[in-house]
Amino acid sequence: MTQQKSYIVGNWKMNGTQADIAILKAIADAAASDMTVDVGICPPATLIAAFAQGAGGIGVGGQDCHAKATGAHTGCVSAAMLKEAGATFSIVGHSERRADQHETDADVLGKAQALHEAGMSAILCVGETLDERDSGNAIAIVTGQLAASLPDSASADWLSVAYEPVWAIGTGRVPVSEDIAAMHAALRGTLVDLLGAAGASVRILYGGSVNPGNAQEILTIPDVGGALVGGASLKAETFLPIIQAAPR
Ligand code: 13P
Repeated sequence: MTQQKSYIVGNWKMNGTQADIAILKAIADAAASDMTVDVGICPPATLIAAFAQGAGGIGVGGQDCHAKATGAHTGCVSAAMLKEAGATFSIVGHSERRADQHETDADVLGKAQALHEAGMSAILCVGETLDERDSGNAIAIVTGQLAASLPDSASADWLSVAYEPVWAIGTGRVPVSEDIAAMHAALRGTLVDLLGAAGASVRILYGGSVNPGNAQEILTIPDVGGALVGGASLKAETFLPIIQAAPR
């Protein structure tokens, strides 16, 4: 298997206005001198076009897309619309959408399929709640989410997976490294089961309270291929050190 570059992606969630293009530029300028890490930013949909123009070598992605290409779905955005705006990939299945918009694994599968059909790659998010972790069933639940949300058309070069424990998002709490390693190893096993040997090359990102202080430890855990970063991606001062901590 060829060694994949680390992949560090910022998820800006519902944050950011045109004024923040300066932050993107600072990240893009720093990333331009270091092509050994893949970097992506997922701004709100309103900023995708502006960010795509100023992103340089940074990938710009959506945070979600609708499963359908067009239609009467007020407030929603299709994969092709994201692509036209300049996005090359999108997050699907983020736990905030699974919770707030009641998205199911089947919904996430439809969205992932839509990305594939639009020629965009996917970051497919999975993760357990604290109750599920405490029940001792986290690995079965999270690998089950992956298996149930991965379309038949999925290929290893199209896909990244993000393991984001719900209880670690925005809380400052991070699982111990052994638990991250165990979950990533289990997800790797599921990917190889579903995609064959090529599943070994899919990058599995960790997400949940990644910051400059813990990034190096997390990013050197076996089978951690990068990070999906929320709060710390909103400022260049906290996002750039995470990129710098990624293994080369
Ligand atoms: P935080 O890094 O703010 O915990 O968010 C993680 C996340 O949800 C990224 O998608």
